[in-house]
Amino acid sequence: MALTNSDFAIEVSALHKSFGKVHALRGIDFAVPRGTVLGMLGPNGAGKTTAVRVLTTLLRPDSGRIIIEGYDVVRDAAAVRRRIGLAGQATAIQLELTGRENLEIMGRLNHMPRSSVKGRAAELLERFEIADAADRPAKTYSGGMQRRLDLAASLIAEPSVLFLDEPTTGLDPYGRLGMWDIIRELVGRGTTLLLTTQYLEEADELANTIVVVDHGEVIASGTPDRLKDQVGGDLLEFTVPDRAQLDDAVRAVAGLSDAAPTGETDAKRIKVPVGSGGSTALVEAVRRLDAAGVVTEDLALHRPSLDDVFLAVTGHAAEAAPDGAAKGQKSPAAGVAS
Ligand SMILES: Nc1ncnc2c1ncn2[C@@H]1O[C@H](COP(=O)(O)OP(=O)(O)OP(=O)(O)O)[C@@H](O)[C@H]1O
Ligand SMILES: [Mg+2]
Repeated sequence: MALTNSDFAIEVSALHKSFGKVHALRGIDFAVPRGTVLGMLGPNGAGKTTAVRVLTTLLRPDSGRIIIEGYDVVRDAAAVRRRIGLAGQATAIQLELTGRENLEIMGRLNHMPRSSVKGRAAELLERFEIADAADRPAKTYSGGMQRRLDLAASLIAEPSVLFLDEPTTGLDPYGRLGMWDIIRELVGRGTTLLLTTQYLEEADELANTIVVVDHGEVIASGTPDRLKDQVGGDLLEFTVPDRAQLDDAVRAVAGLSDAAPTGETDAKRIKVPVGSGGSTALVEAVRRLDAAGVVTEDLALHRPSLDDVFLAVTGHAAEAAPDGAAKGQKSPAAGVAS
């Protein structure tokens, strides 16, 4: 079924934004159907935060057209602001104030009636598991609690479109899973979400559609499955300590998938793209290598990372923008699943 314009909560076309000589956004286009999640994936300096700041009316675009819930972010900025929530890359909470005070102030800044702010704040404190710490200054919160408080603050006025700029950066694996649950719950209630991340795994978990941004341009887009297919899906990797067994090893695992295994003779490492059938391929690889008498080390299944996507799409690894931002991090969660 074709989507009509009004089915999109966010529409962005030909968006450009420069800071002096830095051309941070070079003509970005995408649209987000209402009630779905767009994952914007890219390394440090790609332009993710700049895009979020323009879309949330904090920065003026140089050119391009951005419509949020039918309103133009430049001409109807106030109307856009009433409909959106933002949890930025740096949290916007006041550390000297308590969690509860932070939420209540945010509610009043959003012109909520006093009578409803208190109840809404209490409800969010409960839902985000900070009720026990609600009356302590936020500076005594852990990083994960501060992130959750910031996200709660972005939700106080029940926005229909939510922007989260790297919501899980800095969280431990447990905190990350908790944040994913919260995000899924929001989306389940019909919120439209734009989320930026450096982790393919995270975009895969949460997003209906991914746009990969590099140096201010969209270099790939599609469903998570399509992107992962482009990368070849899961990757089985292992080392063969005895160089003389490398050929035997390649032969043993050759039939595991349609794609041919690749070997790095110097590193004695073999990589086999195994699509989405990772765990089955892992078991089968162990069996075949064993039967062939090949001794292996570090046999593991890797889920594709942002770097793998870059390699597949651009032929090179993800790099930071040339003006010196740090290099893109690899997913800490990518790796062993055996
Ligand atoms: N206020 C600014 N003044 C000058 N340059 C800026 C400004 N904000 C961003 N930039 C530059 O624009 C480019 C894109 O930055 P942006 O913060 O949007 O990247 P990002 O994708 O969010 O990166 P990260 O993953 O590190 O958060 C970078 O080269 C950055 O240095
Ligand atoms: Mg950023």
